[in-house]
Order: sequence, then structure tokens, then C-alpha cells
Amino acid sequence: MSDSTAFFIKKFRENIDTPEEPGQWYRPRPYRNAVVKFRDCSIDDFEQRRDILINEAGLNAFLFRADMIPGCDLLSDSGTTTMTMDQWAAMLLGDESYGSNEGYFELRAQFAETFGAGWCEKDNSSGGSSESLFLFHQGRAAENAFFSILVRQLAAAGKGSSAPPSDGLMPELKSRIESRLGTNSHGKDLWIIPSNSHFDTTQGNIEDKGMIPLNLPCREHLEKDEIFPFRGNMDVEELDNLLEHEKDRVPLVYLTITNNTGGGQPVSIDNIRKIRNITRKHGVPFFFDACRFAENAYFVKKREDEFWDSSIVKIVHEMFRYADGFHISLKKDGLVNMGGALVIRKDGDFSKKFPNFKEGITDHQIMAEGHPTYGGLPGRDLKAISEGLRTVVRDEYLDARIGQVVRFGRHLFEAGIPVIRPIGGHAVYIDLDRFFDGTAGDDEFKGISMTALMLIAGHRVCELGLYAFGSYDGEKEIPPEPRVNYVRAAVPRLAYEDQDLFSVVEAFRVLADNRDRIPAVNVEYGRDLSLRHFKSRFSFRG
Ligand code: F0G
Repeated sequence: MSDSTAFFIKKFRENIDTPEEPGQWYRPRPYRNAVVKFRDCSIDDFEQRRDILINEAGLNAFLFRADMIPGCDLLSDSGTTTMTMDQWAAMLLGDESYGSNEGYFELRAQFAETFGAGWCEKDNSSGGSSESLFLFHQGRAAENAFFSILVRQLAAAGKGSSAPPSDGLMPELKSRIESRLGTNSHGKDLWIIPSNSHFDTTQGNIEDKGMIPLNLPCREHLEKDEIFPFRGNMDVEELDNLLEHEKDRVPLVYLTITNNTGGGQPVSIDNIRKIRNITRKHGVPFFFDACRFAENAYFVKKREDEFWDSSIVKIVHEMFRYADGFHISLKKDGLVNMGGALVIRKDGDFSKKFPNFKEGITDHQIMAEGHPTYGGLPGRDLKAISEGLRTVVRDEYLDARIGQVVRFGRHLFEAGIPVIRPIGGHAVYIDLDRFFDGTAGDDEFKGISMTALMLIAGHRVCELGLYAFGSYDGEKEIPPEPRVNYVRAAVPRLAYEDQDLFSVVEAFRVLADNRDRIPAVNVEYGRDLSLRHFKSRFSFRG
């Protein structure tokens, strides 16, 4: 071996191994583009986008035509993944049988491999379908089924109570529960579903069934200046206090990993273990909303000392060891465009507490989604999910994925835009309270104005703040509690290059440099509607 090549190999290696942050510049992406889509519109068409925005979309980002976005569409990281060639190849082998198709069995085995022993294992007693894996076309369909059956089984058991919340609760916690008791809840059984933070569809599904979603984010989550590695954690003291006094009215405890509403922030395994201990102590089952489980595992590996040397798969197994069940939107870390599942551990605390749950869910599936072995999905999609689950836990994939989001966030920060830090896994969240701090004049729903102006610039982001999470009682606005006021730029997986994201940074920079001139908006339609941010229309004030 010649010394000169050894010298250069050493130099090349040093050049790419700079451990300071994930996904260094000088490393190429661990994949290449296999298919590309040329745009049918140009970044120069500013006036045309303004016309569409005002005349067709009513300034609502959800109503703006995607084919007229020449830049980055960062509305969601959900279902927007670019699938790999292996996934497309697997889809060609899809089995479209009506019952017990091949993809179902492959997926069941893949769930056991991805999430660890005890999940979705083969069960001969149940014929074709598993006792524990219930497929749905997406996450919220699984949530809807889950909470529909849950509330029915709770009512049938007749153990509910409409008594006011216990005086033993921490005063702040008690008042938060009381503030959620609507006028129509009086006289009804009170059921509470705590979480670090429920996603909005989960919250909507819980409320729709007359139960109370209760967010218990850790204190650091609320501290804007604290750079805490696991901002997604749950406040275990509050949870313990809640279960100490109200365990009979808490059918289960939830944990969203990563914590989307809280900024795509991770949850530590230490927090998961503490929650498990508390839930065990009080005999309450414990579930995950597991949409971004692999991204959470990546942060655990990077930030929790015990796991620096563990593989992602091993960390995922460790996380899921503590749960009695989970639901998952596979549109995120399943790396597919559609798909969801509810998974219940056969020998877990939830199955013991609700032994007939499986029957209820299966009936629901048959009535709403199709045979349980396809759950509203084509057989070929099940093959793509299995393949996606194999890719998503690869170190080099997660390095590139999270590295890109972190670089994007860091560039925004360096451009003077206040983002939540540390940067989360799937999105960058811009803090609007800080962004507009000190600006004069009317400030109603400036998050909506920001998303509208970004669309004119050629990029789509999403308001997740006072409009999305607040409500209107006919006279005044009721802000979200705890207060959240963000614009979110969610990064689709495997879809954009850094250059694209940096052009988003430049557009935000124009807004930041001229923040005094960003107008407020009038709500023209939908202010008092439920889930109003999807339906409303606005106009610029001036
Ligand atoms: N749970 C979490 C934490 C989510 O982020 C989402 C979706 C869901 C459940 C519902 O899953 O879309 O498959 O029905 N989040 C997307 C987003 C829509 O943009 O954050 P779904």
C-alpha cells in the first residue's frame, strides 16, 4: 500500500468526520435522486400567486393550489415523503387479495422487528388477522376508532363519575381541568386523557367523544430561553398528582414522540421510564402516539448518555418496551404517503383492563375501513410501509434527515428569526410572539399574514398558533392554553435539497427585515368554526 494514498485517505476521512453536528456539509447525502419533478410554475410569478392567494384561497395556506408553489411546500412532513426505489419496487409485488393479503403478514413481521419482541407476533389462534395490529388508512382514523370504542366500553362498564375534579389536585392542574369542562359536560362522566401534548386530531377525537384531553408538558417546554435536550418530555410530577387523585377517571396515559405540538421536540427514555413507573404504580395503561418514533430514537442516541453506542433499532425497542400500545401515522416515520395503525400489546395493561377491546375495534374496522388485514389500504401500500420501516431506522438516513432540519433551523436563527431551540426533528418552529415583539399597530393573526406572504414568496408554511389552536366564543378570542403561537416549516422526508430550504430562509429574512410592514388580517369566514384553520378565509388589513 503506498504511503501517499494512505495519507490522502486519512485526510479525506478527517475532512468528513467533524462530529460537531449531524449531517455535515462535506458528507454527500446517503441517497441520490432517482426521479425528479420539474415545476410548472416559476419563482418569478409573484403577482400570479398573489391573485390565487387572494381570489381563490382566501389567504388560507391549505386552500392554495400546490402546483403553483415553485419553492418548498413545508405545510406538512406527513404523507409528503419521497419514496425510495426499493419501496416502489416492493409495490409492484403488492397482493390485492380481499382478505389476509401477503403484505399484511410481511408488515406484521416487520412491526415485530421494528418495535421489538411482544408486538404483533404471529398468533395462530386468531386466524388471518393479528390480535394486536389494526390497520387504518391514516393516523386519525386509528385515533377515531380507538376513542370511539374506548368511550363506549367505559360507558358500558358504568364506573364513570360526574363529580367535580378532586381537591387533592395541584391547584393549577385542577383549574386547567375545570377550564376544559364545557357547559355540556355537566352531569356527564368525566374522563381525562393526559399527554405531554396531544396533536390536534388526537385532541379533536378525544373531545368529540366527550372526554378531556389534558396536556402536561414539562416545565422546560414552556421556558423560551432554556435550551433543554428533551423539551418534549412530560411533567411527571403533575402526572403523578393527577393519577394519585383521579386514576379512576384516567383510562390511559399518552405520550407523543416526538412532541409535535411542542416543536417536534424529543422525549427521553428516562422520562418514558418514569412515566411507566408512575402508570404502573397507579394501574393505568400507557400508550404512545408514535408518528415520529425513529426521529425520537435518533435524539436519544445523540443526547442521552446511556445510548450513545446503541443502534437506533435497539433504542426503538427500549422505548417501546414500556408501552401497552400505540397508534401511529405511517405517513411520517413509515416513509409512505398514506397509512396508519393501532397496535395493542396482547399481554399489556390495556388488554387486561379492556379484554373486549379487540372485538370492538375489529367491528369498527370492518364497518369503516375494510377487512382488518388491509384497513383501507391497497395491499401494495403495505409492502411500501414494510420497506419504509426498514429504511427509517438506518443511521445514515437519520443523520441526513435530522441534519438537514437542524441546518435549516440554524440558518433561520442566524438570519435573526426567533426559532424554538434546540431545533426539533421534523420541523422548524418560528416563535411569533418574539418575531413581532416591539412592532407597532394592529397585530391580529399575524401568523396568517406570514403564511400568506410566504406563499407570495413561493413557499408554503403553516400557522400553528393563536388561530389554529385558539377559538372564538362569539365575542372574544380564547387563546390556546398553554399559549402556543408559531409558524411551522415542516420538512418533507427525502424531498428537498439544502439549496431549496435556504431560499425559504431568504424569504423569511425579507419578512423579518420588514416586520413592521406585515399587515394584520380580517377573518372573513369561519372564525367560530371547529378546526377553523382548515376552513377559514381571510383578507389583508391594508
Ligand atoms: N399524531 C401526531 C403527533 C401527528 O403529527 C399527526 C399528524 C397525527 C397524529 C395524525 O396522523 O395525519 O395520519 O391522520 N400530523 C400531520 C402534521 C398532519 O402536519 O403534523 P394522520
